[in-house]
Amino acid sequence: MTIFNNCASSNPHRPSLMLATFFLLMLLAPAALAVVHEQRDHIPHGWSHHSKHPSDAILPLRIGLVQPNLDSIDSFLNEVAHPESSSYGKHWTAQQVADKFAPTAETIDAVIGWLVDGGFEKERVRVSGSRIWIELNSTVAEAEKLLNTEYHVYQHEETGKKHVGCTKYHVPEHVRRHVDLITPTVHFTASRMKHAAVARGTRLNPGTKPAPVSKPVPLPKPLTHAVPMGTTTQQFLDLSKCDKHMTPVCLRALYGLNKYTPSQTARNSYGIVEYTPQAYVPTDIDVFASYYATDLVGKRPNLVSIDGGVVQTTQTGFDYNGESNLDLQYGMALVTGAQPVQLYQVGDTLEGASFNDFLDAIDGSYCTADGGDDPNYDAVYPNPYGGGYQGPKACGTVTPANVISTSYGYNEADLTQAYSRRQCNEYAKLGLMGVTMLFSSGDNGVAGNRNFCLNAGGSQSAGGARFNPTFPGGCPYITSVGATQVFAGKTVLNPESACADVIYSGGGFSNYFPRPSFQQPQVANYFAAHNPPYSTTKYNAAGRGFPDLSANGANYIVAVQGVRYLVYGTSASAPVVGAILTLINDARLAAGKGPIGWINPTIYSSAFASAFNDVTNGTNPGCGTNGFSAVKGWDPVTGLGTPNFPKLVNLWRALP
Ligand SMILES: *[C@@H]1O[C@H](CO)[C@@H](O)[C@H](O)[C@H]1NC(C)=O
Ligand SMILES: *[C@@H]1O[C@H](CO)[C@@H](O)[C@H](O)[C@H]1NC(C)=O
Repeated sequence: MTIFNNCASSNPHRPSLMLATFFLLMLLAPAALAVVHEQRDHIPHGWSHHSKHPSDAILPLRIGLVQPNLDSIDSFLNEVAHPESSSYGKHWTAQQVADKFAPTAETIDAVIGWLVDGGFEKERVRVSGSRIWIELNSTVAEAEKLLNTEYHVYQHEETGKKHVGCTKYHVPEHVRRHVDLITPTVHFTASRMKHAAVARGTRLNPGTKPAPVSKPVPLPKPLTHAVPMGTTTQQFLDLSKCDKHMTPVCLRALYGLNKYTPSQTARNSYGIVEYTPQAYVPTDIDVFASYYATDLVGKRPNLVSIDGGVVQTTQTGFDYNGESNLDLQYGMALVTGAQPVQLYQVGDTLEGASFNDFLDAIDGSYCTADGGDDPNYDAVYPNPYGGGYQGPKACGTVTPANVISTSYGYNEADLTQAYSRRQCNEYAKLGLMGVTMLFSSGDNGVAGNRNFCLNAGGSQSAGGARFNPTFPGGCPYITSVGATQVFAGKTVLNPESACADVIYSGGGFSNYFPRPSFQQPQVANYFAAHNPPYSTTKYNAAGRGFPDLSANGANYIVAVQGVRYLVYGTSASAPVVGAILTLINDARLAAGKGPIGWINPTIYSSAFASAFNDVTNGTNPGCGTNGFSAVKGWDPVTGLGTPNFPKLVNLWRALP
């Protein structure tokens, strides 16, 4: 709390300074009656106040401009993605998308006019290539005057990394409608992205039930490495042990993939995103393939390096290889060895990368020549700290695959609403272009990463009482994938339950994004028939519910450094659903049709209701509660259920 008393604009003890600033602004620019544009109520976990930022220091100010037509993006998207629309499947080109949403001349003039009135010479102001950002170098004193705020330096307690920011800032009323956000200001994040979602593993040790773990087990000791995996006699190649050991054979049986052979493999595409230092081990694909996917022996994903992305080999073991190995071994196995898979490896080993860095690479209009991101959240390239990747930032240089699966996530509360919206709108644009974006829903039930929940003021801690939704699970333009499980003693012929071994399926309701129309009937039915026993202090019943669907997330056998592990997580579920949707795209391409793109209005439509295996057993505990329950119909634990491929492929093949 004391920290914020340093910020004049929110300091109840220093009203004189506030008034002085106010009158100064009045004198300089009488028309510029400024109102609070964005503010943050608390400092993120792990940071503390360091010092007042020196007035003569230079700040690279970036002003994100409001894009026109964004309020229509939902209807544009529904036109091409709603199964009853006459334009279903008529996706836009990247250029059509860029043109539709480029800020207008009126917006650019209004913001530049404000800056010039505020004392900045026009020569100091630069409009980015995509016209989405206005940039200028300002002294701290100039920026404080312009934004009626005070800049401070904060320090991360663990890493010592410094961050410059303020707790709120002001923009004149007549300019506000042109400004999306300004950086650096309140956008402030601790640790960029949590490798969150999810893969968690235990050594496969047949005969012993793996002990639940709350994080990946430490690397096996060298002695353990020496045990050849061949000494494990059980291989689990049939369907009799799918309740204990999940394999591609089990998944094919569960979701009905057995009879489909892809034929459009040269035209179709499936991308899996990994964030360095997570890295797959090429030889582990062969180890895995030798047991469970012989057509994959010798196959590798196509490495698409983004911002210096490397398949690093200096840090190894489950913590570094588990996620990528899981995603690729299963993603590749299920689309078969005939279908190439793109590995989007993002970020160098020093800086890593964020979702925005990836989005910059696949959409030039999202990116700018100088980087349109927020350096507090997003990695900056070329690497500004020396070393690392010094090449150009990837900016619209990568063609997105038809289906893209990501097994990483944030807590929604880690990010500001403005930052989250900008990214969510970008997912809508990708949907317009026909790309399906899948994300794991999280592994902590109704709690967030690190099992944190929300406190009354919006901060996060282990003791918080309010449910803590994940991001981008709350963004309506992605498809969020939860986790199910075949319970002990059950077979692939029995209905699955919500995952309850080691992890709980992430689910709930967004605090940032309202309930979208596509899920209106299902969510209303859910509340009508199964109203959860919590007051609205626990969650936002009007928010976007997630996940949308689910797939098995327990007991996956994954080869890591030659040794098989049992792995759990919605990290497993997303690439499996990605593979299934990729096969559906194959069927559509074979029928002369386009990819499925943004699937949400389709999967929630009544025609598709029977194409999911409804999951009606289990819960997703967290925040000191049992969480929500999986029930008949959609629920915030397993969504609509798991895919029934034969039904889905027939329905989707019938759409235009
Ligand atoms: C701000 O300063 C940096 C470093 O001198 C420079 O590279 C950048 O081009 C400047 N930006 C603007 C908008 O003038
Ligand atoms: C339902 O889930 C519970 C745990 O939540 C489990 O013990 C039980 O076996 C499951 N029932 C079925 C029919 O799968």
